[in-house]
Amino acid sequence: MKDIIQQLEDRRQDARMGGGQKRIDAQHAKGKLTARERIELLLDEGSFEEYDTFVAHRCTDFGMEDNRPAGDGVVTGWGTVNGRMVYVFSQDFTVLGGSVSATHAQKICKIMDMAVQNGAPVIGLNDSGGARIQEGVDALAGYAEIFQRNIMASGVVPQISVIMGPCAGGAVYSPAMTDFIFMVKDSSYMFVTGPDVVKTVTNEQVTAEELGGASTHTRKSSVADGAFENDVEALAEVRRLVDFLPLNNRQKPPVRPFFDDVNRLDQSLDTLVPENANAPYDMKELILKVGDEGDFYEIQENFAKNIITGFIRLEGQTVGVVANQPMVLAGCLDIDSSRKAARFVRFCDAFEIPILTFVDVPGFLPGTSQEYGGVIKHGAKLLFAYGEATVPKVTVITRKAYGGAYDVMASKHLRGDMNYAWPTAEIAVMGARGATEILYRSELGDADKIAKRTADYEARFANPFVAAERGFIDEVILPRTTRKRVSRAFAALRSKKLTNPWKKHDNIPL
Ligand code: HXC
Repeated sequence: MKDIIQQLEDRRQDARMGGGQKRIDAQHAKGKLTARERIELLLDEGSFEEYDTFVAHRCTDFGMEDNRPAGDGVVTGWGTVNGRMVYVFSQDFTVLGGSVSATHAQKICKIMDMAVQNGAPVIGLNDSGGARIQEGVDALAGYAEIFQRNIMASGVVPQISVIMGPCAGGAVYSPAMTDFIFMVKDSSYMFVTGPDVVKTVTNEQVTAEELGGASTHTRKSSVADGAFENDVEALAEVRRLVDFLPLNNRQKPPVRPFFDDVNRLDQSLDTLVPENANAPYDMKELILKVGDEGDFYEIQENFAKNIITGFIRLEGQTVGVVANQPMVLAGCLDIDSSRKAARFVRFCDAFEIPILTFVDVPGFLPGTSQEYGGVIKHGAKLLFAYGEATVPKVTVITRKAYGGAYDVMASKHLRGDMNYAWPTAEIAVMGARGATEILYRSELGDADKIAKRTADYEARFANPFVAAERGFIDEVILPRTTRKRVSRAFAALRSKKLTNPWKKHDNIPL
């Protein structure tokens, strides 16, 4: 018996060493942690239960029969994050470059199946050279099995990908189908074809970092939702995100202890909106002042900054926030901001997370680049996402709500549950100046007349009361009371039940 136990210990120790000390050192030299070190940081101490430690590949080509490392380049299992269950896979770059073989893929599929069955999130730590070259189509088949599971798990359990090394070729499509992608700066990249192929085909000279590094994907492509300085920070931030999320689509998000008075008034909000209606102000200030303890987990912070998306808590409960940002492009809606917010709204709706919308939007961004880029279809995504969402929706218009953008931003007409406006709100088809110039075109030569017409229009429409008279705004509230008002609104909506008509699935304008 003693021998057998020793044998087990020896085998485990061998598996823990992955590709051996030399490769572990090389991994550390690149500023990267090993697959197991990452899991230790991600999960609560001592909570990891590993599966398939001894799984080895079955390939016999290219001399692979003599190189069958235990675990086959991926560490899989489950553990807890602040006591809540998650499944995890962590690719081990020290073993055959973390490349994906048929058996490597089977290990990932196994924990994905368990995650869906048992209703817990899947967190994938990606660090891989892609399909195992020696295995050919078996490796491709393995990837496709993972893809299929990503699709089936979508909207059932949260899926989070952290890119912590190479992720290239078709391999990028598994993370791409998960809910959130985070990258580590300077040590991770994602692209469909690498710099060499790009050079051959298009003659463009580009580095791996420029083509698919963290900065590219968080600022330009929006493939990634966030970028972190190093492995340690990335894993700590994933833990923070998991705390906001429900374990699956049948559960509510967790309720965390909170120490912030729900009735807290914030006088400074009364002067947040400047006197000059065209002057910008920082909408993030409002978000931070409304949420419990000023805690805000922003998603896609560096992309389409004219809209802000992320999670706060109110009375300890997760709330998804979507807010126009007047500091960037005057907070207008455009292709990028519509896509960003639509995806966020759909995530919230899929996982029973109520949505709080702060509105200050002058309309959609005009221009050929927007029209040629399909702003009609992309703007419709956000409209569609809000309209189909059945979770509690609370909206506060702080200033402008003009034109179609008024309708889009969780208006009453899209089944907004509670629609508030600050006294500074202006709800109209368009700004006073533009409206006057169209209505009184013949008077355009007379500056005084036009100024008077503009002032008249402002007096009539640059306020929340016309909408409030019609019940499109449920109440005009003092800015300082916003936290209390929206918290009470969400409390009143906790048992909201709303279902859409049966359908196989909708046909959102993709
Ligand atoms: C088998 C691989 C491998 C792979 C790396 N290795 N990628 N083994 N299959 N795909 C092995 C190397 O042989 C090496 O083994 C070890 O991993 C580390 O690799 P290095 O090249 O020494 O590391 P580094 O210099 O950091 O370069 C990393 C890399 C490079 C950029 C990822 O290895 C690389 O370009 N690999 C090939 C990438 C690729 O073309 N993959 C297929 C993509 S297509 P030793 O024994 O020396 O440590 C694809 C399709 C998916 O993935 C389709 C899904 C539909």
